[in-house]
Amino acid sequence: MIVARTFAAARAARRGRTGLVPTMGYFHEGHLSLMAGAREAVDTVVVSLYVNPLQFGPADDLTRYPRDLDRDAALAADAGVDVLFAPSHGDMYADLPYTRVTVEALTQTLEGRFRPGHFEGVATVVAKLFAGLQPDLAFFGRKDAQQLAVVRRLAADLSFPVEVVGLPTVREPDGLALSSRNTYLGRRERAAAVALSAGLLAAADSVESGERDAAVLEDAVRAAVEREPVLLLDYVELADAAETTRLLRLDREAFLAAAARIGDTRLIDNVWLTPAGDGFRADRGVRLDHPTILSEGVS
Ligand code: PAJ
Repeated sequence: MIVARTFAAARAARRGRTGLVPTMGYFHEGHLSLMAGAREAVDTVVVSLYVNPLQFGPADDLTRYPRDLDRDAALAADAGVDVLFAPSHGDMYADLPYTRVTVEALTQTLEGRFRPGHFEGVATVVAKLFAGLQPDLAFFGRKDAQQLAVVRRLAADLSFPVEVVGLPTVREPDGLALSSRNTYLGRRERAAAVALSAGLLAAADSVESGERDAAVLEDAVRAAVEREPVLLLDYVELADAAETTRLLRLDREAFLAAAARIGDTRLIDNVWLTPAGDGFRADRGVRLDHPTILSEGVS
């Protein structure tokens, strides 16, 4: 594996079909599953690692975001990654960027209402990565379902010749979706956090038993979260998979998305719901059968 600091160095290392896995580092098994998916699909796997300041709000956690390049480089090498593109801020931006990429409409819903400017920061950096690295395929997690919808739309609207692939959410053995931000949770917060995924997974069961009413599905999540007083729900909403707009009934591909705060940590999660035969199939993601590598070295 080579570690590239510049777009030119990363591009020069490509052979055959190239797959890109964009990340902000501090890898967990969710990132590793995207790398494994890319490894199976392409000749050259490029992982980008850049904690993108444009997508953090003023009250967000840019400075405390976990960073460990040596740890990440070792994990990426083990995952069979060919190129780790890890630019410094100066490598990424020689000058203050004047150009921003705004994806209208589907960035105003769900997370967009709580994190103004967040998706503009994501879209801008992803467009820059697509332009600078020129991947044939790009791999994103369904964990960030709205981000996936935004990136798909961005690639289509700007005619980037890249196929955007969404892969299932990786979960801890108890169901909590892996996130680098889980490292902020204390022991009691961690125990309470599982209520979010528990509510979503219960709603997934009721979809597969025939429930189609968004309010009923949303209430299942709300009830689970309310059982943990330290967990404060920002929203739970059934959303059209591509447009991210609210659905009152499950009648097309959708995701049931929820966000909650615990202390000053924000958790998001969802279950993806796809038409299958006469009904719907819920993608609950993949559960680890061992503790996550995030729990190593965390007290
Ligand atoms: P980051 O949070 O590092 O996530 C990188 C990729 O890993 C994203 O596609 C995300 O959806 C995926 N991912 C995160 N947790 C996951 C899980 N538990 N299971 C499966 N996939 C998971 O998302 C970003 O970085 C940034 O916004 C980025 C796209 C890199 C732009 O800066």
